[in-house]
Amino acid sequence: MNLPDLQLARRTGRLKSSLVRDILAATARPGMISFAGGLPAADLMPALPLAATADPALYQYGCSEGEPAFRAAVAAWIGEAGLQVSSDQVLALAGSQQGLDFAAKLLIDEGTPILCEGPTYVAALQVFELFGAAIVCAPLNSNGPDLAAFEQLLETQRPRAAYLIPCFQNPGGACYSPAARVAIAELLDRYNVLLIEDEPYRSVALDVDHPMTPICSLLKRAPWIYLGSFSKILWPGWRMGFLAAHPALMPHLVRLKQSADLHTQRPGQAAVAHWLGSGTRAADLTRLREGYRLRRNAMQAALQRHFGAIADWEMPRGGLFFWLKLRGDLLATRAVLDHALEQGVAFMPGEAFFPHPADGRQYLRLNYSRATPEEMERGLATLAACIEAELTEA
Ligand SMILES: Cc1ncc(COP(=O)(O)O)c(C=O)c1O
Repeated sequence: MNLPDLQLARRTGRLKSSLVRDILAATARPGMISFAGGLPAADLMPALPLAATADPALYQYGCSEGEPAFRAAVAAWIGEAGLQVSSDQVLALAGSQQGLDFAAKLLIDEGTPILCEGPTYVAALQVFELFGAAIVCAPLNSNGPDLAAFEQLLETQRPRAAYLIPCFQNPGGACYSPAARVAIAELLDRYNVLLIEDEPYRSVALDVDHPMTPICSLLKRAPWIYLGSFSKILWPGWRMGFLAAHPALMPHLVRLKQSADLHTQRPGQAAVAHWLGSGTRAADLTRLREGYRLRRNAMQAALQRHFGAIADWEMPRGGLFFWLKLRGDLLATRAVLDHALEQGVAFMPGEAFFPHPADGRQYLRLNYSRATPEEMERGLATLAACIEAELTEA
């Protein structure tokens, strides 16, 4: 419906609809095989510790920073990963997406340069652009960003922050090498650029043979915000995430939390804190990784059969996605989407992951956590046939 006199904030003009959410709506159709979203596999989620959420006191308002037990459990959890923080540096979030929203509100004015990986997470682009960021991207290799390009962008663009996903990057799958982590930390310190390190896939590590030290822990001078999520390992519908930050940033972030939603829901914090302290955690994560390894391997085999002649990719070492580049430059993957959806297969065209869509025209992202091996076989055969049909017409 059109409201001719409706007055909205100027930034609303920059509010793009997320292609992911539009495609996810299409995937609700019965019989659809979806490689599109980043939904974790429901059968691999641990049992919900409902008993931990039963205390009626949890149904009262709580404090903005989060439950003390949750903050302490998260501080210990990220300490195990290599980032030593006190629980005062932890803020409970309604999903790590909320941390991206806060980072944008904290840092971005119209025209503020923000340095990202190219490609990068689509919903980070969405919120950074909403607040008016001028996004510049450093090309990403499988072991980290192109360091020369990264430094050149720091030098010439003077970004206010860098947004990086060093563990099993979404969508590119990169896992930064130890040397890349050290080099990026040194560069950020040298140029004193704030780091937003986003880590929802850290625990979905399948075959990595090197340490994945958080880059935030290597910084000596530059301020930082570290984002974590329980969506990919526990129950995404509970919207449980957190941030940890340099102490100087915490008062601002807590006020942003207050102004957004007062506090994160308390039963979810209790459930996560319980799980983090439970004896089943290690076994739950092992089961999850084994389940994902089987699916990843099944997808790799099906891709070799159906995409071996038309695309290039590297098998992801963790995370939830394959990132493919079509050979030649004849076809934009976006042009295949409608045909594929008609044929009952959903995927994410690469253009969604770049501030300049044309940079992603040859790429596509495929999620491997949801489909069965039989659906992978059928869905990838159908998708490859759609691509070949478009190529013949092109
Ligand atoms: C890189 C990245 N950051 C953040 C998120 C948001 O996760 P959450 O469910 O914790 O809000 C996602 C979800 O797919 C993601 O891929």
